[in-house]
Amino acid sequence: MKALITLIFLLPILLFGCSEQAAKSGQNVISGTAEIGGPFNLINQDNLLVSENDFLGKPQLIYFGFSYCPDICPTALQKMGAVQEELDPDGDLINYLFISVDPERDTSESLKLYVESGGFPKGLSGLTGSKEQIDIAKLAFKVYSQKVTLSDSEADYTVDHSDIIYFMDENGIFKDFFFGRNTIQEIGQALRKSVG
Ligand code: NI
Repeated sequence: MKALITLIFLLPILLFGCSEQAAKSGQNVISGTAEIGGPFNLINQDNLLVSENDFLGKPQLIYFGFSYCPDICPTALQKMGAVQEELDPDGDLINYLFISVDPERDTSESLKLYVESGGFPKGLSGLTGSKEQIDIAKLAFKVYSQKVTLSDSEADYTVDHSDIIYFMDENGIFKDFFFGRNTIQEIGQALRKSVG
């Protein structure tokens, strides 16, 4: 509960995104004290329908971002990869999820290439869906994201988003969270209590 309260208080000031505007636009994100996590229905990188139930039975590390993100997302996913190497070298103790906040561009086909990027966790699931399906998942995890156009062209945009790795237990219950800028050691230390 303490971690949850901390999360709710820290989120508005500690949001980071994929452009420098993130800090400015990261307001009014969290209201209420509802729990983190909940049902979702999305498609994975193999174009199969998945829900939160498909990832139960193992603890989960879940990150929301988008494949076009130049640095924030790759950094966080590479940290997840390094943590996997340390705590879960065979990749069978934890389920690793990347949920897109950019369903317009992140198709299951493009996510398939993305989740296989070097340094990312082995077996990383890349999830996308309709805008409505993504909104439901974002709401469940209190995730902030905001499309920011970069020029007059509507196709030219980035997405500011919260930079948080959620740690859920094997029953899908929120346990802890990390920021993408937490060190591998910090994340590993916190997870070691629950994994392995
Ligand atoms: Ni990103």
